[in-house]
Amino acid sequence: MESYGLHGDQQRNLRWFTWLVLLAQLLGLTAVILVAVWMGHFRSGFAWQENPAIEFNYHPLFMIIGMIFLYADAMLVYRVFRNDRKIYVKILHGSLHVAALLFSAVGLKAVFDSHNLADPPKANLYSLHSWMGLITIILFGLQWLGGFLSFLWPGASLGIRKQYMPFHTFWGLTIFCMAVGTALMGIVEKTLFSIMKQYSSMPSEGLLINFLGLTIVALAITVVYIVTKSEYKREPTPDEEHIQLAE
Ligand code: HEM
Repeated sequence: MESYGLHGDQQRNLRWFTWLVLLAQLLGLTAVILVAVWMGHFRSGFAWQENPAIEFNYHPLFMIIGMIFLYADAMLVYRVFRNDRKIYVKILHGSLHVAALLFSAVGLKAVFDSHNLADPPKANLYSLHSWMGLITIILFGLQWLGGFLSFLWPGASLGIRKQYMPFHTFWGLTIFCMAVGTALMGIVEKTLFSIMKQYSSMPSEGLLINFLGLTIVALAITVVYIVTKSEYKREPTPDEEHIQLAE
């Protein structure tokens, strides 16, 4: 990464920053691999509507890819591409969130199908996990719309953008933390549905599940640290200085 004009502490800070971003990628990929192995190996693999019980298995996989891994990376792009033109970084940030929304939409379709197409059909939206999940997704959609209209839509004035930015940052992190909490609840719920009796004897599936949860928490801590540390915030590049909007 380019680090022009930086000395001493700043150089050291940036070295740590690079390692932390790599750690976040490693943890994100590990979470995706662990949930894929859990569903693919221990829970009979993947199928679409022809087998609703197994269609469920796309739900955890796609929610973790979308709401955890891609969402985390979308938040990191402003810190990682600190010297690139802001408009490109904004487009990358918005696009990663679109990808996160698409994965989440398919993940939700999978779980609703797995309830509605079962014989007999199963109840929807009764658990705390499902309520938290729905609220999180709705807030995520609203946040995306707010961000798009304020920062990418050419119509929003500089004053509106400046006023909205702190809310966007606060809600971005809050929704991510809600997604992490929701995912952990879903993991516990699925564990109890599928291996309630064996869980206390620590079978390999149970260990994998526990490591999956720990990996997601470690990823969340790493990402929240990177995003909230003031030294890692993006400085305005010389051509943006007159705009004073860089976070
Ligand atoms: C942030 C990510 C997640 C969100 C937003 C989310 C959201 C939802 C929603 C809205 C439902 C209700 C579907 C219905 O009522 O038909 C649901 C169901 C379910 N989810 Fe998730 N989910 C997430 C991650 C996970 C993960 C990682 C697992 C782990 C296996 C999981 C396990 C379950 C289970 C077992 C159900 C069915 C029982 C229930 O409705 O609570 N979810 N999820």
